[in-house]
Amino acid sequence: MTSAPMPDFPAGFRWGVSTSAYQIEGAATADGRGPSIWDTFAHSPGRIVDGSTGDEACDHYHRYAEDVALLAGLGVSGYRFSIAWPRVQPTGAGPANPAGLDFYDRLVDTLLAHGVDPVATLFHWDLPQALEDAGGWLNRDTAARFAEYADLVAARLGDRVRLWITLNEPFIHMSLGHGMGLHAPGRALLFDAFPVAHHQLLGHGLAVAALRARSTSPVAIANNYSPVRPAGGTDADRAAAAAYDALHNRLFTDPLLGRGYPDGFDLSVVRTGDLDVIAAPIDVLGVNYYNPTAVRAAEPDSPLPFELVPLDGYPRTAFDWPVVPDGLRELLVDLKQRYGDALPPIQVTESGCAYDDVPDADGRVPDPERIAYLDGHVRAVHAAIAAGVEVTGYFVWSLLDNWEWAEGFTKRFGLVHVDYATQRRTPKASYAWYRDAVIRAGADPGPAR
Ligand code: FCB
Repeated sequence: MTSAPMPDFPAGFRWGVSTSAYQIEGAATADGRGPSIWDTFAHSPGRIVDGSTGDEACDHYHRYAEDVALLAGLGVSGYRFSIAWPRVQPTGAGPANPAGLDFYDRLVDTLLAHGVDPVATLFHWDLPQALEDAGGWLNRDTAARFAEYADLVAARLGDRVRLWITLNEPFIHMSLGHGMGLHAPGRALLFDAFPVAHHQLLGHGLAVAALRARSTSPVAIANNYSPVRPAGGTDADRAAAAAYDALHNRLFTDPLLGRGYPDGFDLSVVRTGDLDVIAAPIDVLGVNYYNPTAVRAAEPDSPLPFELVPLDGYPRTAFDWPVVPDGLRELLVDLKQRYGDALPPIQVTESGCAYDDVPDADGRVPDPERIAYLDGHVRAVHAAIAAGVEVTGYFVWSLLDNWEWAEGFTKRFGLVHVDYATQRRTPKASYAWYRDAVIRAGADPGPAR
C-alpha cells in the first residue's frame, strides 16, 4: 500500500464517486418506469455473460438513503448519478411521469442535506425502448426528444443539481451498442453507425440550451478517452493509430469544441446549423479514463482501418484492462495541447478498476490493487495540474459494486462491496483509503503532511 502523502490539490477541488441508473437502481417497473433498451437487451438470451439483468441490480431505488449515508461517510463533495429517461418519460415522449421524477427529487434533497453536490447525468445509455422502436439514435428525431426530456428534468431539479452532464460516453454507446453489437441496442453497423454519433451530439447541443433555460448550474458532457499507441514502429501502424485516435478521441470532442468533424466520416446526415448547435459552449469537459489502447494496421480484408491489440507490459485488472496511471496524465496534457484555449476546465468523471474482491473471514474486504490503482491515478491528475491543465474534480467509478453491462455481475468496481443475494453493503479497504488519504487529507492540509 502506498504511504507517501498526497500532494495538495487546488482549493475547491471536487472529490466524488460515480454510478449510473440501470447499473444500480433495479425497480425496473416501479412507479411507472417504462422499458429501456438495456431491459430488452439484458433479457435477450446470450447477451449478458452471466445471464443476469438489471431488474434488481443493487436495489438502490429502495436503498438510496443507505447509499447516501455511505457517500456522507466517505466525505465526498460530489456524487455523479444518472437519471433514467424511462422513469421520467416511460415512452420517451410526452409529459413527465411525476413518480419517476419524485425519486430523483428525494435523492437530490438527501444528497444536499449531507453536503454532497448532486451531479446528474441525463443519458447513461438507457434509451426508452419506444424511441429505439422508432429508430433510436439513428433517427434524428431522438435528438429533439432528448432536449424535451432535459427540459422536464431541469424544470424539476434545475434549482438543486450542481453540475449537469448531458451524455455519458457517446463514443462507447455508438461503438459497442451500434458498431459492434456488444451493448444495447445490439446493432452491428460498423462505420454505418456514424449517424448515432451525430444525433447524440445534436441531442447534447439541444439539451445544453434546454438546461440553460431552466438552470444556472454548469453543463458538461462525459466522454471516454484513451491514449492510442501504435503497436509497432511501422508507418502502417502509425496510420492505424491515427485513424483509431480520430474515432475514439476526436470524433466527439472536435465538433464539441468548434472544430467540426475529423476527416474521413460520411457527413450526409449533418444539416446546416447542426455544428453550431453542437459547439454550444460547455462549462466543464467530463473525462472518463480507464486505459490506453494499442493499435496495429488491419489485415487487408478487414472492414476496419485498424486492429486493437493487447497493450503488454503492465499489470491488468480483472477486466484484463492494463493499469497505466500515467496514461491519465498523458491524456489530460494532450487534451490541453490539442485544444488549447478552447478546452474548458476538466473533471475526471470516471476512473476505477474491477477486481475479484471477496470479504474475508472477519467480513473485511481488502482490495490493495484498487488502492494502488486509485493512488496512481489521483497522482496522475495532480501531475497534469502541475503541467498546467485545469482539472477541478475527480470521481471514482464506482461507489458500489454493480451490474456491469454485458459483464453482468461478474466485474466489481465498487469502493463498497455488494452481496447481491442479500444486498448487504460492506465498505472495502479502498473506501477508507479514499476517505482518509485523499478526501480528508485534501480538506485539511495540516503540518504533519
Ligand atoms: C464506463 C461506463 C460505466 C462503467 C465503466 C466501467 O465505460 O461509463 O458505466 O461501465 O465503464
